Amino acid sequence: MLTSTKDLLEKAQKYSYAVGAFNLYNLEGAKAVVNAAEADHSPAMIQVLPHVLQYGGAPLMALFLEAADSAKVPMSVHLDHCEEQAIIEMALEAGIQSVLADGSKFSYPENLAFTAQMTALAHGKGATVEAEIGRISGTEDGMTVSEKEAKMTDPYQAREFVEKSGVDFLAVTIGNVHGQYYSEPRLDFERLARVRQQVEIPLVLHGASGLPALMIQRAIELGVCKFNVNTEVRQKYLQFWREYGKTNSQGDLLDCQKASTGAMQEIIAQKIRLFGSAGKA
Ligand code: 13P
Ligand code: ZN
Ligand code: NA
Repeated sequence: MLTSTKDLLEKAQKYSYAVGAFNLYNLEGAKAVVNAAEADHSPAMIQVLPHVLQYGGAPLMALFLEAADSAKVPMSVHLDHCEEQAIIEMALEAGIQSVLADGSKFSYPENLAFTAQMTALAHGKGATVEAEIGRISGTEDGMTVSEKEAKMTDPYQAREFVEKSGVDFLAVTIGNVHGQYYSEPRLDFERLARVRQQVEIPLVLHGASGLPALMIQRAIELGVCKFNVNTEVRQKYLQFWREYGKTNSQGDLLDCQKASTGAMQEIIAQKIRLFGSAGKA
């Protein structure tokens, strides 16, 4: 059933687990998340990147909202990494539960002004807002931020930012990376602990693909209530189709769609268990 992202994350915060937010592109992805969440009695989030939403438009938005609403477990739909007001408005108009008003590429004052404005807009529609302070490196579907451009979250700036913008959830940058980790992931947990001391709202960690279980657990202990997962699920899906293409060129398409759902569902289920949200629906 559709549930507010705020309720999902505040409950996760209270009981010390995290909700998986999975970047999706199509029906198979939606089914994979719903099936995995239902099987493990877990809450879950569907999230969509702006250019995916621009491609899929209202039909894709309706698909995600309907999939989340018809699930037997609490779910919400979230607009990921959006720096354009027009797309945020479109998503809010369609009934989305939350958005990431992403001003992380702007200067601090511009990010604050943008986030405050988008928060007022979203709250007016009964939706909630995630913001990012600091800037995460790596590549996410066409958007690349080099390590040099990346910035770690400053705990005191985070506090001021949250107070002044009225934002509901905060994405932190502590060495997490979008896409693959090309060397051993190194997260600054000491910084995360200091952010937690300054900021009471639920914290979000992007770039969860590639993080080992112990780091995920430590992040949850230090207040992370939402993990963003894209790459691992996307790669599983692409790998499925590559292999299918080699062996089943005359195959039944529907059977393959179902099997591709199953492939994604497997990895989503692993994440749900790792995040501690299984059994929490
Ligand atoms: P990964 O692609 O590393 O899982 O990161 C996903 C993400 O942060 C989406 O916003
Ligand atoms: Zn992200
Ligand atoms: Na990652």
